[in-house]
Amino acid sequence: MTDTPAPSYSGPRRILSGIQASGALHLGNYLGALKRFTQLQDAGAPCFLFVADLHAITVWQEPEKLAAQTREIAAAYLASGLDPARSVIFPQSAVRAHSELAWIFNCVARLGWLDRMTQFKEKSGKHKERSSVGLYTYPVLQAADILVYKATEVPTGEDQKQHLELTRDIAAKFNNDFGAPGFFPLPEPLTQGPAPRVMSLRDGAAKMSKSDPSDQSRINLTDDADTIAAKVRKARTDPDALPETWDELEGRAEAKNLVTIYAALSDQSRDQVLAEFAGQGFGAFKPRLAELAVASMAPVTAEMRRLMADRAEIDRVLRDGAERASAVADPVVDEVKGIVGFWR
Ligand code: TYM
Repeated sequence: MTDTPAPSYSGPRRILSGIQASGALHLGNYLGALKRFTQLQDAGAPCFLFVADLHAITVWQEPEKLAAQTREIAAAYLASGLDPARSVIFPQSAVRAHSELAWIFNCVARLGWLDRMTQFKEKSGKHKERSSVGLYTYPVLQAADILVYKATEVPTGEDQKQHLELTRDIAAKFNNDFGAPGFFPLPEPLTQGPAPRVMSLRDGAAKMSKSDPSDQSRINLTDDADTIAAKVRKARTDPDALPETWDELEGRAEAKNLVTIYAALSDQSRDQVLAEFAGQGFGAFKPRLAELAVASMAPVTAEMRRLMADRAEIDRVLRDGAERASAVADPVVDEVKGIVGFWR
């Protein structure tokens, strides 16, 4: 990858992130993304939050379900506490500028850069030649999502770090190739939240993920209280008691994961959690975690269900968001077209 020069961008701060419209959200999405977005809403910069439906179709999505999946993510944004008056919430496909800038970035990004993307390797698995071309250029569209708003900060879970580094490389190469220093910002990845990588409840070495075949591995945002409690009770752990310090948890991946989840849900540090539970085993810790998880998630899931039943309200938010987003993104793409030298 290219060395990124010192940023010389002088535009306003903007926060941006997206979640794919590909079904079932889980606790990893909630702690790594949604909960953080609500905290950043008061950070003094406008937030652009979208439902990544263009990204979703890089793998097959049933056409009759896609719009409902988009509404479900929008409902999750709202239910987590995002205020559509302060944050711009919209479907990616409703703002044409994303796709237009993505094509131009396809001609800026280098094959060698994309060849290094680990998420493509994971998602395409053994069948690389049968994957969609979209899955391969996925991170280029992601760079367009971010830079079409000249976003300066991008909060995500840790798994998006490599894509955010690629975004900076694309921004730097565009600015450099077209002699437009400081045109695009080099966005700051905000991947250091309290739970940037929530792990599977069945395997402390695997990320909590919607593609895990075991439903026991994750807490879904649609799970009811009994299901959440049962999943926490059955979560894989070890027979040892909890220690006093984080360092002493070395080598105990499952224990670390549950302590991290407890800390993130209760807005405490991991050391505070250990101070409370030191000397106790998982027989005592798990019921408390189950209680906390149910109490934290129940209002969110209930509000999601209420909103999903009020389609008109969600559609109003998404339409209004798309309009406000286009008003920012369209002029940026127009300017880019001028910089590239297109007839206008
Ligand atoms: P997606 O839909 O896979 O995930 C949405 C968000 O949830 C975070 N996340 C996690 N965080 C902690 N622990 C986990 N186990 C976990 N699993 C998922 C993700 O890091 C993400 O923040 N490519 C993105 C969507 C996207 C995007 C963008 C994000 C498209 N364009 C532009 C930021 C900026 C994705 O697939 O997220």
